[in-house]
Amino acid sequence: MTRIAVTGGAGRLGRSLVAGLAAAGHELVSLDRAVSEAGELQGLQQIAVDLTDTDAATRAIADTRADALIHLAAIAVPFSAPEDVILRTNATMALNVMSAGVAAGIPKIVTASSPTVLGYNCPTGWLPDRFPLDEETTPKPWNAYALSKHLAEQTVAMLARQTGDATRFAAFRPCYVIAPEEWQGALTQQGHTVRERLADPALSAPALFNYVDARDVATFVETLLVALPEIPNAEVFFVGADDALARRPLAELLPQFVPGTDDLAAELTGTAPAFSNAKARRVLGWRPAHTWRGELGEPLTDAGPANAKGSDSTPDSAPTPDSARKDVLA
Ligand SMILES: NC(=O)c1ccc[n+]([C@@H]2O[C@H](COP(=O)([O-])OP(=O)(O)OC[C@H]3O[C@@H](n4cnc5c(N)ncnc54)[C@H](O)[C@@H]3O)[C@@H](O)[C@H]2O)c1
Repeated sequence: MTRIAVTGGAGRLGRSLVAGLAAAGHELVSLDRAVSEAGELQGLQQIAVDLTDTDAATRAIADTRADALIHLAAIAVPFSAPEDVILRTNATMALNVMSAGVAAGIPKIVTASSPTVLGYNCPTGWLPDRFPLDEETTPKPWNAYALSKHLAEQTVAMLARQTGDATRFAAFRPCYVIAPEEWQGALTQQGHTVRERLADPALSAPALFNYVDARDVATFVETLLVALPEIPNAEVFFVGADDALARRPLAELLPQFVPGTDDLAAELTGTAPAFSNAKARRVLGWRPAHTWRGELGEPLTDAGPANAKGSDSTPDSAPTPDSARKDVLA
């Protein structure tokens, strides 16, 4: 059993993460702005702290006496606050929390980043070198949220340079997180249901149809914590499902929403996702256990090219910069 401190443990991802890690036999302590009544946190130690306050964060993290620290706390939705507030809050918390972890001698420190560091939905256009996107794809953040996540990754790299291998770090980029209750109809982060997201590809297009079940993030983190001493320090991992959150192949859908991707996306046939999870599989031996079809009880047959002209309502134009700005996902 490991004693694991999770910042943002009361949040959308945090609740599933602490529940999954506790169910796996670990001892959890959650640090968040306030003590939460959420069922997943009942019986766990909770510390209420504003992690933008350097002294308070340093004290609170030392008090956890944890063996591992997972930093999730953030303003998690782009444009949900003024740009300067998002940048200052997220960058300050990443530095405070992870530096406090180093100062407290916590040997394993992991931060949540985001796929948005890559820069898709940029109002002036965006094209990657190739699909699927992976850890080699060049980050091109275009808003304060994505920049703050890029900075969190760079904070990991910076602290690893400072500490050598005495502390083991990693950053992970969870795809659009779907909590267990959201398969049953609860609203997802963007305020609609999973079924609505599938019925209208315009809802999932801003995330390039990526997703991950929150329980799979928990198994990823658990696997990562075990592997950290053995793998290169300060690695970055995408954490996504094996398939795309779409009823039609991305080779067909992406060009409708990301102008210029006709040729680049041509390989994304069948259920192939835009984001590769191959590195996590190769380096850690981790694989997601959940798919949207499995969770919704839908057969695989509707994903293939044979159903390429399905009945989903698909807008016939790409999102405007304004709608991209509003809909851009964490
Ligand atoms: N949910 C997703 O789809 C998704 C995708 C990619 C990355 N992420 C990242 O994963 C992490 C968790 O996301 P989430 O969806 O659970 O977000 P969330 O907003 O549900 O949870 C964030 C938590 O951080 C806490 N927090 C914010 N400011 C704080 C402060 N000053 N002091 C202490 N706690 C503070 C909040 O109270 C909240 O409980 C974030 O870093 C986010 O950027 C999430």
